[in-house]
Amino acid sequence: MNLILLGAPGAGKGTQAEAISAKLGIPQISTGNMLREAVKNGTELGLRAKAAMDSGALVSDDIVIGILKDRIAEPDAKNGYILDGFPRTVAQAEALDEMGVQIDKVLEIHVANERIIARMSGRRVCEKCGASYHIEYKPTTKPGICDVCGGAAVQRADDAPETVLSRLEVYEEKTAPLKDYYWETGKLVTVEGQEEVADTTKLVFDALGING
Ligand code: AP5
Repeated sequence: MNLILLGAPGAGKGTQAEAISAKLGIPQISTGNMLREAVKNGTELGLRAKAAMDSGALVSDDIVIGILKDRIAEPDAKNGYILDGFPRTVAQAEALDEMGVQIDKVLEIHVANERIIARMSGRRVCEKCGASYHIEYKPTTKPGICDVCGGAAVQRADDAPETVLSRLEVYEEKTAPLKDYYWETGKLVTVEGQEEVADTTKLVFDALGING
């Protein structure tokens, strides 16, 4: 199954992608995680992406399309994958079509902006493996320590309140048009993100026809 997860920053795409990945045994492919890894490692690509990411803007289409194309060609993606954070512009969606990728479903997670802002302030992400937590809704077992790998769970630089607001504006302008793009293909399904992670997961699994 090839899936796309759509939704505003902080809607819960990464959280639900992890749950789907565990359930179906297909990889979560997060362009945000790949870009953060490149920034952390100080690669040329990371240096080109960093300023845009820090300000809440999108990284250029050519950079992101390039890393996505390489990633979906890897062996673990041959039986399907979950695209988390890609495509984010109509140009990226068209590039995916041009690559000949067949998408089975596009799942939009909708959450009101006020709730998103509250969620982002509590998000913590493992510096080492990228696992995502929330201090209230999905806390680490030991404060500040990743349950998966023992790395430090820290706040993301782009989760500062003013950056979150500009990311939401960018989403409305550049990414929300993808809802129409995929609605026309008949593949778009929307779920309302719930207060509890597990409740959203149930809606997501139902929408994808995966037994819980
Ligand atoms: P990216 O990493 O993709 O960030 P994003 O889309 O802004 O999404 P987030 O990771 O912020 O949120 P999410 O929806 O995954 O929510 P999460 O599950 O973590 O991109 C970062 C940057 O990289 C972009 O700004 C851009 O610069 C660049 N970039 C990436 N892809 C690009 C592309 N294709 N083109 C151009 N540039 C690109 O949940 C959020 C929090 O809420 C967590 O703490 C979580 O625990 C909690 N939570 C989740 N679900 C629930 C729930 N149901 N109830 C309560 N809490 C919940």
